[in-house]
Amino acid sequence: MTLAEVLRGPLHLTGTKIACNRGACSACTVWLDGAPVPSCMILALDVGERKVTTIEGLANGDVLHKVQQAFIDHDAIQCGFCTPGMVMSCAALLERNANPCEDDVREAISGHICRCGTYPHVIAAVLAAATK
Ligand code: FES
Ligand code: FES
Repeated sequence: MTLAEVLRGPLHLTGTKIACNRGACSACTVWLDGAPVPSCMILALDVGERKVTTIEGLANGDVLHKVQQAFIDHDAIQCGFCTPGMVMSCAALLERNANPCEDDVREAISGHICRCGTYPHVIAAVLAAATK
């Protein structure tokens, strides 16, 4: 089983989405030891002792991560299917670069397919979150 299948199946962590299931859309992005990865391309057995962080683990209790809040504030969500993966990649960007430029954000989300076309709002949200 892949990591994505284990998350959504036995672990009931359904925030992680599976779309293409072949590493081409980034909907299934989670963090592995803090780095964003496509969980549909990782065998669960290969995770070993590494730490997995999903969208469910990003908020601090009832307080949303600043990227999650910025997505809401900037209407960066339409159908929402791509959103968990997109948020994980954007939050990882801010972890490694607290002051990204627009091109940095574009690169961070370059592997993400959003059929609703939220990209301009996502970029605005991440740049705003970086100032918080
Ligand atoms: S579902 Fe994993 S990359 Fe598309
Ligand atoms: S918000 Fe619908 S696919 Fe991105």
